[in-house]
Amino acid sequence: FNVPAPKNEPIFSYAPGTPERQKLKDAIAELRGKVLDIPLYIGNREVRTDKKLTLTPPHDHQHILGYTYECGPEHVTEAIQAALEARTAWAALPWEQRLAIFLKAAELSATKYRYLLNASTMLGQSKNAFQAEIDAACEWVDFLRFNVSFATEIYREQPISPDPLIWNQVEYRPLEGFVFALTPFNFTAISGNLPASAAMMGNVVVWKPAPTQMYSAYVLMQILKEAGVPDGVINLIQGDGPMIGNLVFSHPEFAGIHFTGSTAVFKSIWKTIGSNMDEYRYYPRIVGETGGKDFMLAHESADAKAYAANLLRAAFEFQGQKCSAASRAYVPTSIWETVWAEMKGMLETFKVGGTEDFSNFVNAVIDERAFTKITGYIDRAKQNPANTILWGGTYDKSKGWFVDPTIILTSDPHSETMEQEIFGPVLTIYLYEPAQFEETLSLIDRTSPYALTGAVFAQNRYAVELASKKLINSAGNFYINDKCTGAVVGQQPFGGARGSGTNDKAGSMQNLLRWVSARTIKESF
Ligand code: NAD
Ligand code: ALA
Repeated sequence: FNVPAPKNEPIFSYAPGTPERQKLKDAIAELRGKVLDIPLYIGNREVRTDKKLTLTPPHDHQHILGYTYECGPEHVTEAIQAALEARTAWAALPWEQRLAIFLKAAELSATKYRYLLNASTMLGQSKNAFQAEIDAACEWVDFLRFNVSFATEIYREQPISPDPLIWNQVEYRPLEGFVFALTPFNFTAISGNLPASAAMMGNVVVWKPAPTQMYSAYVLMQILKEAGVPDGVINLIQGDGPMIGNLVFSHPEFAGIHFTGSTAVFKSIWKTIGSNMDEYRYYPRIVGETGGKDFMLAHESADAKAYAANLLRAAFEFQGQKCSAASRAYVPTSIWETVWAEMKGMLETFKVGGTEDFSNFVNAVIDERAFTKITGYIDRAKQNPANTILWGGTYDKSKGWFVDPTIILTSDPHSETMEQEIFGPVLTIYLYEPAQFEETLSLIDRTSPYALTGAVFAQNRYAVELASKKLINSAGNFYINDKCTGAVVGQQPFGGARGSGTNDKAGSMQNLLRWVSARTIKESF
């Protein structure tokens, strides 16, 4: 079984006049012309319940994309049962056969389903064409291809056997029981990767995406099924999170959770798992990537224009709804004038609107809950005398959940928007005196409980070195002279520490090892 050396899927630009642009527009038009009926998948059954959920584009309240269903407690139990019934055959399948299924899923996603995946992400989650391409097409395909390659290395790696009469072996068994994949709205790739990576290693999975991601989750499920993932190996359910969680986390065969989402939800899950420890047959694996309050720092030696351009992309692409998005910036007073002039020039070109118009850079935030939370932060920031609203501060929910890119200049480095995760298009900037660089590093480290991504811009190598050392625990992904978003699978393994997660790096060998349990065998001849 020779796995092709994994390569990152090339990113299409969707520039005007390209054939890809037309194909994507056709896929969007086709989807908009339909009302999808999205079932839950439990074992070999498509399940529809009497609790219907309506799916609309976040940028267009009036348009109905389709319907999906909320499950009741009996469906959760059935999904767990279906997973456990599928387990023996799936775990016994040679790993090469399992991995081949996921390689096929990668090829289907990169070719036949590429435009549908992107269109469903654009309409369902309000990502623009380029953001959808990076996520739903490329990152998802990269996760599959690189994980297959990492898994091959895991299975092949064997301990030494220096004595010819002794044979040492390590077998990587799937976890006993079932894995629960609980996934967020903001990345189609992450949502698919959490169930797929556990299943790849021989596990059976119950998968609950965010309700607002069900539209693209449905396409992911079609792909996985067409690629050959057997019934029951990945069961897709939707419904009330706490109800589902309580049933899953109290089940004796619960073997682990693969989570990405907010810090608060992960902490509550961890507590529930802890309180149920006596119920389980095994110590469950707990893997979670959670919130962030990501920073971008400029040193006085920074290329001010490059910093400004990167800061804007990191803060406002996908409306700041990226765990890695820049939301606090630290700029020396000496370069501020140049930074702000550059930012202002770019901000004037940003268009806000729906994803069907490819010239819109900023689209809608995901739902009413997010809109209310983000605009609450903006309104409170306006009341704080330490703040000046430099840009935006406006919002409009009449057609969709639109929040304009907002920039707050603050004189209080501990103001609310400097410390808390907002998860929207809001950037707060704090100016410091160039001589205070070292103190600013300590400030950055102490300001938030998170440690996901961060960046320093500096031409001075001593400044780079100092920032890298002092901020060693402040970010799981640290960037030098680059924006703090856009980690690429296989190139920059992604994940945060402190309040940002267990740092098991999505799309890495380290992550896959969490989904197996090793058995060592010594045989004497
Ligand atoms: P969320 O925590 O609200 O939801 C995540 C999942 O948990 C969803 O499926 C949701 O329905 C479910 N859920 C919510 N409350 C629950 C409960 N009480 N019990 C059981 N399940 C529950 O997160 P979200 O809004 O979908 O995603 C945004 C968050 O995810 C942000 O905090 C962001 O930083 C984080 N995120 C982190 C990473 C990373 O790699 N660190 C990547 C993407 C998103
Ligand atoms: N891979 C995504 C980023 O780094 C989460 O922005």
